[in-house]
Amino acid sequence: MAKYSHISGTTVGLITLQNPPVNALSAAVRQGIVDTVKRALGDAEAKSIVICGQNGIFCGGADIKAFGTPMSGPPLVPMIHAIEAADKPVIAAIEGFALGGGLELALGCHYRIAHSKAILGLPEVTLGLLPAAGGTQRLPRLTGLPAALDLITTGRHISAAEALKLGIVDEVTERSTVDTAVKFALSVAEHMLDARRVSTRPCPCPPHLDALFEEAMLKVRQRTRGAIAPVACIQALQAAATLPYARGMEREKELMGTLFTSGQARALQYSFFAQRAVTKWSMPSGACWDNSRPRPIHKTAVIGLGTMGRGITVSLVQAGFSVVAVEAQEKQLNDSKRAISGMLQRGAQRRGLAPPLDMVTYSSSLQAVADVDLVIEAVFEDAVLKKKVFQQLSAVCKPGTFLCTNTSAIDVDLLASQSRHPELVVGMHFFAPAHVMKLLEVVYGSRSSPEAVATAMNLGKKMGKVGVAVGNCRGFVGNRMLKPYMEQGFFLLEEGATPELVDAALEEFGFAMGLFRMSDLSGIDVGWRIRKEDGLVEPGATGPAARVRQGRRYSPLGDVLCAQGRFGQKTGRGWYSYDNRHEARFDPWLQQFLEDYRSQHGLVARRIDHQEVLERCLYSLINEGFLILEEGIAAGPEDIDVIYVFGYGWPKHRGGPMFYASMVGLTKVLERLEHYHQVHPDVPYLQPCGLLRRLVASGSPPLHKWRGIIKKAHSHL
Ligand code: COA
Ligand code: NAD
Repeated sequence: MAKYSHISGTTVGLITLQNPPVNALSAAVRQGIVDTVKRALGDAEAKSIVICGQNGIFCGGADIKAFGTPMSGPPLVPMIHAIEAADKPVIAAIEGFALGGGLELALGCHYRIAHSKAILGLPEVTLGLLPAAGGTQRLPRLTGLPAALDLITTGRHISAAEALKLGIVDEVTERSTVDTAVKFALSVAEHMLDARRVSTRPCPCPPHLDALFEEAMLKVRQRTRGAIAPVACIQALQAAATLPYARGMEREKELMGTLFTSGQARALQYSFFAQRAVTKWSMPSGACWDNSRPRPIHKTAVIGLGTMGRGITVSLVQAGFSVVAVEAQEKQLNDSKRAISGMLQRGAQRRGLAPPLDMVTYSSSLQAVADVDLVIEAVFEDAVLKKKVFQQLSAVCKPGTFLCTNTSAIDVDLLASQSRHPELVVGMHFFAPAHVMKLLEVVYGSRSSPEAVATAMNLGKKMGKVGVAVGNCRGFVGNRMLKPYMEQGFFLLEEGATPELVDAALEEFGFAMGLFRMSDLSGIDVGWRIRKEDGLVEPGATGPAARVRQGRRYSPLGDVLCAQGRFGQKTGRGWYSYDNRHEARFDPWLQQFLEDYRSQHGLVARRIDHQEVLERCLYSLINEGFLILEEGIAAGPEDIDVIYVFGYGWPKHRGGPMFYASMVGLTKVLERLEHYHQVHPDVPYLQPCGLLRRLVASGSPPLHKWRGIIKKAHSHL
């Protein structure tokens, strides 16, 4: 849908795109544009034309919801060509967003006027695609190749100011964009348009073109490991640089053809909608985003200024909240003041703003948090200490203060039981570094109120996090699923694998880091301390007892390494050695250690291939995911997938573990788990869970039907 009107008293025709919420280019909108452009060109009164979007949004691009359905309505490319070929000046009035096809539409116009708050970009690559309505051919003709390579291969959004600097827009206004564009349209009504048709311009090519493309290719291959869309974007830009426009367009179309039906595009588009689905959270009680209002939060507090507390403080301040930051140890308090100020200063510098240092007040006493609206506790992971802190907070804080814990694994109900108002207690599980990582697990306990969940979710959103509401269990969703994944790694080492082999398989799959490099980075001692608390670490155990705990197969490999002071990168030695502390290197000591360990326990090393590594590590993690769904800890597979993509480095172009399982086929996942369980009956986490079996028995329904099936099963219980 698009409306045509004549701006009274002027010679300007106005086309308004109408398709809430973001004026996506659905078949009806495209038809509307074709019709209204025709009308405007035939309107003798109209000497120039302005295109805008209703409700302050220009256009959010192609209608993603229609992808995968048969194409109907007029195609975009000829529609944009007709605008560019028009003999009356056409001006895009950009407010809100001009993204993807929206920006391509604007690039087909002869002039672009943007509001200062407008956001522009070609984000198709993030959906596994490329801008295929001329974006890859027109943008470099306007901005030059280096900027186009950056924008199109990352899909990043840019501000109007940056767009002006890059030559994408002609003018930026603080006032009404449509009024400004109309004025502009009047001023250019009689101008010659030849030079304004971007497709007719040459593509400015810097010297050393081959080197530029080689460097760009290397960069995307490193950054996006196995993703095909960024590579295709570069190939399309190569065509823009080396071929005439019409042939460049053919190449763009051909490349898009291979991307459009790819599994990666499906995965990334699924991920786009999954991110939005998790904002519509629900609790087993029936409380949900739709019927629970968040309470406004102004003043916050963070308790414990270690690794996490510092990042959380920075993230809160950057979102505009004042923070009372409490730390018990004096030295740590002083260090954290410096660290937090430094982070805020660097962040402000990047955004060209003054650092909001006065938004944080520091204290060594819990008494300082008496008047805050919400507290986030981030003291040591020690249940006794956390219980005490919750008792104190409950006594000190004003009535109604929400008490949130950043615990990784401690029972939220246990902490809630220390407060006089357990309904105001939830987990807010951030990920390190907390001011950078996007994921936030909002953990509801058995007594958490829907209002507390809504408030934590809303706060997370304001902090720029992707919040996922999850139930309370050991490790919540993310860490709980990580356990089988890590443990399979240990068992594979016992059976003959090396850290290099396991990591290579996982990195080839698309993880930025394999599990052993990740373990070295985050510290092998983290899991060791938790296992110690759980009574699993038995340094003196020898013989068969060394590899059994609480009646289950157990691998003490991580414990033995920690007992020798090998904590990973922080000690320069772990599963690898680190001369410069960052680059993981093969360590002959570890090889010998593994050989000695195997012979000590009568284990004979066998050849293990990448397929086995992937199947055992990933399918055991996925199996735990099904168990989590079965128990109702996560409301749906999208929740798990968002957690894994945003918090655990699961490759985005593979959608997330549950989406991956649906792509591999549930029957295959079940068969392979059954196979490994048969071969290694004593290895935990390989026995397929009931939900996976039930889904396979009911014909492996597509992922979007799982939620309904699980709900039905729960209602029968
Ligand atoms: N096609 C279809 N639906 C779209 C859409 C598009 N291009 N862009 C957004 N939507 C829908 C969302 O799915 C959401 O629907 P819901 O309310 O049913 O969940 C709604 O519009 C609002 O989007 P949301 O992302 O929640 O709003 P926002 O204000 O936070 O962000 C955008 C707005 C435009 C920045 C964001 O939606 C976006 O990035 N869209 C995709 C842009 C894009 O990639 N275009 C190129 C397509 S090839
Ligand atoms: P940390 O050891 O770096 O910091 C904890 C801080 O709390 C220390 O500075 C300590 O002095 C302070 N503290 C202890 N008792 C206090 C008290 N009574 N009052 C005020 N301050 C007190 O720990 P961390 O890594 O930041 O972890 C904090 C919490 O976040 C833990 O529950 C942990 O499980 C969780 N977490 C950690 C990570 C991570 O990667 N580090 C990720 C997610 C969650």
